Amino acid sequence: MDSKKTHFGFKQVDVDSKSQLVKEIFSNVASKYDLMNDLMSFGIHRNWKNKMVEKINLSRNCKIIDVAGGTADIAMRILKKPNSSNLNCNIDVVDINQEMLEVGKQRAVDANLFSQLKFTCGDGENLPFADKQFDFYTIAFGIRNFTDIQKGLHEAKRVLKDGGKFICLEFSKVEDYFLQKIYDQYSFKIIPKIGEIILKDRNSYQYLVESIRKFPEQNQFKKMLEDAGFSSVSYQNLNFGVVTIFEAKA
Ligand SMILES: C[S@@+](CC[C@H](N)C(=O)[O-])C[C@H]1O[C@@H](n2cnc3c(N)ncnc32)[C@H](O)[C@@H]1O
Repeated sequence: MDSKKTHFGFKQVDVDSKSQLVKEIFSNVASKYDLMNDLMSFGIHRNWKNKMVEKINLSRNCKIIDVAGGTADIAMRILKKPNSSNLNCNIDVVDINQEMLEVGKQRAVDANLFSQLKFTCGDGENLPFADKQFDFYTIAFGIRNFTDIQKGLHEAKRVLKDGGKFICLEFSKVEDYFLQKIYDQYSFKIIPKIGEIILKDRNSYQYLVESIRKFPEQNQFKKMLEDAGFSSVSYQNLNFGVVTIFEAKA
């Protein structure tokens, strides 16, 4: 009998092989991941991430899990929020790729934030944490890489305390026809080329742009959050939906 298939960018692959393929992509890009983000987005990813982090109201001793946290960019932005140093907040950065985490650890040491961060190599679809642990679950540009997104959302709900907040930043569906056309040209023609020049790796960036197109549209993802048991689900498009911030209550 044929094994079950899923998408990996525009390719069809065995469900069991996707997570290994995703791991390989991020192993290839880890050393230059942050530089590539700046180059590909002309630095705009910083504004998107700051807008996401603005949605977090830190309180004393709050516990945060940043899933698919990669090089700890989101976690460090949270810890750099005004007044956060007085609040004793701790963040678990979880990622399936150890190499991305190693880059994150070094960045955290350099920024003198290491003591407030804990790094765990783990899968967002099967989090190695007990139920109802966290006040916030954050995930940026990560969930579209999951093999089973719905399973990942159930895990998010499971580890959040009742009333805890889910915040996701993800590439989404551009809701302007002309911008979509320009964005498609840029994504498929230029981004893989930048990957080829900077990292000698066109394929990883080809996958990244294809994976964006496979991610559910805003209302579909909202429905998936509701199906996972979240309430008060809302979203905000940035740059006409190039990226979207989703918020929900556990
Ligand atoms: C595009 S990077 C985003 C990193 C970081 N959140 C940021 O915004 O800079 C996606 C990350 O998701 C991680 N990832 C992919 N699938 C995962 C999974 N199932 N569980 C945990 N992390 C995963 C990858 O290893 C990679 O580090």
